[in-house]
Amino acid sequence: MTSTAADGSSSLALPVLDEELDSRLRDRLTLVEERLEREIRSEAAFVTEAARHLMNAGGKRFRPALTLLCAEAGPAPGSPEVITSACVVELTHLASLYHDDVMDEAQLRRGAASANSRWDNHVAILTGDFLFSKSSELTSTLGAEAVRIQAETFTALVEGQILETLTPGPGEDALAHYLRVVQGKTGSLIATSARYGARFAGAAPEVERALTAYGERVGMAFQLSDDILDVAAESVESGKTPGTDLREGVPTLPVLMARRSARPEDRRLLSLLDSDLSDDARHEEALALLRRHPALDEARAHVLDITRQAQRFLDVLPPGPVREALDAFAVLTATRSS
Ligand code: FPP
Ligand code: MG
Repeated sequence: MTSTAADGSSSLALPVLDEELDSRLRDRLTLVEERLEREIRSEAAFVTEAARHLMNAGGKRFRPALTLLCAEAGPAPGSPEVITSACVVELTHLASLYHDDVMDEAQLRRGAASANSRWDNHVAILTGDFLFSKSSELTSTLGAEAVRIQAETFTALVEGQILETLTPGPGEDALAHYLRVVQGKTGSLIATSARYGARFAGAAPEVERALTAYGERVGMAFQLSDDILDVAAESVESGKTPGTDLREGVPTLPVLMARRSARPEDRRLLSLLDSDLSDDARHEEALALLRRHPALDEARAHVLDITRQAQRFLDVLPPGPVREALDAFAVLTATRSS
């Protein structure tokens, strides 16, 4: 189950080995796509165009795919509420990308011009608001509990995003601070994606709880593997400009781990990391040094550790294709190349 970005790069596939399961999930993902297309229409043609921009640029549909997969753990995996909730999480995610690209001053998203670079910050911010309000309208059809979960998720997303702009408090470990950021800004919505799937398919409360915890770990692995890609990936592969976080001084996992290890030969790297990396030559040098630093492998090992935590939550499920697919989904997330 893949979608293709504007630059033609392929995206994360759902690792489903069972053909029947794969076919059911594909059919439901098509329903989600059709529904999303309807939901983002506005009476104002320009708003529709701006809202369609990133949705049509591709994207992995990671969150709705997870909702649909987790729904297979309940008795009603194809219920209309499952499809609606899969749309809710994708719309919330899309909304956050419009805002995130403004904060990051990003030029590229999904291999296409970001909304802020194609239009301007005002358009990008308001389109993000529009998508988030559409997501909220849809959530209201799922009942009060879904609205509460969505509101708490939004709080965690925003808190994570704001915490990221702050330096750790006195005595606070930089890595621990960063992992809180990741849990909030990415873990929360991916946890809710898994939770909605289990919940609206009618899964037992203990299954909903376990899959929520699984989703949070998978979400963290997803964000941290993105951090690794920021250092390790080539632009063509990832659809983004490599080193964007590095240039902005966003403390990602490989950077934090390189700072921790601080070997004598890292003096040049550390001084570059403490300097203004908007300069192209310095940025390129820092990126090259990081790419051959052992911190990159340490970061990968950390992501695999979080993935193993996610996998353990799957013990609540009976053995079979659904559990296998969720297991493989966690592994693929941690080792993705786009
Ligand atoms: C991507 O991080 C950003 C997020 C996962 C969350 C962004 C959240 C907000 C902007 C809060 C507002 C939310 C809504 C719903 C309006 P990144 O910059 O590390 O990843 P990237 O490389 O994909 O840009
Ligand atoms: Mg960003």
